[in-house]
Amino acid sequence: MCGIVGYTGNKNATEILMKGLKSLEYRGYDSAGVAVFTGSKIKTVKEKGRLKNLKAMLLETSVEGNTGIGHTRWATHGVPSDINSHPHTSEDGKIAVVHNGIIENYEELRVMLKSKGYTFKSETDTEVIPHLIDMYYDGDVFCAVKKAVSHLDGSYALGVICENEPDKLIAVRNRSPLIIGAGEGENFIASDIPAVLPYTRNVFFLDDGEIAVITKGSVNIYDSDGQAVEKLPETVNLSETAAQKGGYEHFMLKEIHEQPKAVADTLRSRISNGKNVKFDGFDAETVTGFEKICIVACGTAYHAGLVGKMVIEKLAKVPTDVELASEFRYNEPLLDNNMLVIAISQSGETADTLAGVRLAKEKGAYVLAITNVAGSSISREADNVFYTYAGPEISVASTKAYTTQLVAMYLFALFLAESRKTLKPTELDIVKNELLNMPETLESVLELEGEIKRLSKEIYKETDMYFLGRGLDYKAAMEGSLKLKEISYIHSETYAGGELKHGPIALIEEGTVVIAISTNKEICAKMDSNIKEVTARGAYTVVFANESTATQHKECSDIITMPEVNPLLTPITSAVPLQLLAYYVAYNKGEAIDKPRNLAKSVTVE
Ligand code: M6R
Repeated sequence: MCGIVGYTGNKNATEILMKGLKSLEYRGYDSAGVAVFTGSKIKTVKEKGRLKNLKAMLLETSVEGNTGIGHTRWATHGVPSDINSHPHTSEDGKIAVVHNGIIENYEELRVMLKSKGYTFKSETDTEVIPHLIDMYYDGDVFCAVKKAVSHLDGSYALGVICENEPDKLIAVRNRSPLIIGAGEGENFIASDIPAVLPYTRNVFFLDDGEIAVITKGSVNIYDSDGQAVEKLPETVNLSETAAQKGGYEHFMLKEIHEQPKAVADTLRSRISNGKNVKFDGFDAETVTGFEKICIVACGTAYHAGLVGKMVIEKLAKVPTDVELASEFRYNEPLLDNNMLVIAISQSGETADTLAGVRLAKEKGAYVLAITNVAGSSISREADNVFYTYAGPEISVASTKAYTTQLVAMYLFALFLAESRKTLKPTELDIVKNELLNMPETLESVLELEGEIKRLSKEIYKETDMYFLGRGLDYKAAMEGSLKLKEISYIHSETYAGGELKHGPIALIEEGTVVIAISTNKEICAKMDSNIKEVTARGAYTVVFANESTATQHKECSDIITMPEVNPLLTPITSAVPLQLLAYYVAYNKGEAIDKPRNLAKSVTVE
């Protein structure tokens, strides 16, 4: 999704902006631009395509100064083009704006501005903003921005500069993230923390409706009424190297290998020395009071929710639904104050999930957020937050964020079960102890990498693949299939084993690749019947089994045997080889693994 950076200080602003935009590339974009004070003028340069195009343009025109704003755009309103790229400016070029988010009432604002004589160059929603600021500008850019944003409906993080007030940045946040990096004699704005990490770890988190006036020596924050807000910077503990590839060819492979640590960190945050799971903020009465749970999420996070439902119902016996956030918000869900809504979101910024959180709160439900990003919108709006400790996930395809979401689901289910005394402590201890061993188990799962590499060479030229599973394996298969299609562009679908003969088996022909997940001893014979059904019709069948089920599957074309774990925990151990499979298939095809086409890391539009 779009990225914003801004700088004011004594250094070369263009260089800092370009470096910041580079660090935000992972968010996905299709054009980029900068606007910098050069002498007494603002110079704006923007270009469709990757940052290297913008860099080439900047070599041709001298854009040197100490204050500026930059942007990477992911098209929503208007095609990717030079004109539609940000920064957008007032007609005289004296006001420049970068914007993340969507202005929902831009059409009516365009009509109003046109009636006042303003003309538009782009098809974007954003261009109304510099014109509105210009309309109100009377010598004070802060006042003009404050008045301009009072007309805007929708989500927006803004960076603004004005030629008449050099070396000043204005930053605004409303339902789209924006932070201020506080340096020594220099300050920064950014839509995401990695952009400021090379310079500072001191960060102001803006709240919705806040406007900041930033110079190299000062940061002043105001609410939407213009009242000063007292705020101190917070210190963030992210290392710069954590945001780099660390020797791996792709962030995705690095992040797959980071899973033992990510899982250990997440476990450690809630449980130590095998004791009870701790959850601050939930009093005993609240925990025992929930009559129903609804999990709301999108994409991979939704798959974590599907596993969560089964685990919560099994361990804590609380009826649980799982809803795609984009459906939930429009389906008039039955919510009340006896319900717990769990919003799962790696980024904490997904627009549909955030809307689900707001709806749930409006209807009186208690909201628990499970997110990987501190200070994210969802974490700030929920009643309680469980932070996963995956560390920054740069690759668009989610891997370690997913397995830590699974861990969060297990820990929460254990916490509920312990509090509600739904199972004997000895029964819960069996699951808890195996969960605590998961980092070591995942180290052994990663040893399957060589086998997966070999398998990927057999199948990477396929155009279609089918995934099968039953129970928790079915949920694991859904995530495996999503991962494969996201980065390899191979069409794939997932079916519950028992559903095959109700239609999908018609698709199986000689050589069709079918990937079956079979980790549950209790139902592996049923799974084997499904495998035989497709084998008999010519399928090339690959089974992901474990030590106790592998012997059941004698007639498959290939088998990967994963370490044995408690049947409830297998979605974690299956996730890793399926991620590796997607990775190596995409690798063999030569795809852009970390930045797959059409996808963005953080989906902040509906
Ligand atoms: O940031 P979120 O977890 O809310 O994102 C939800 C989905 O957009 C995300 O999981 C998406 O499906 C990933 N690309 C999966 O790899």
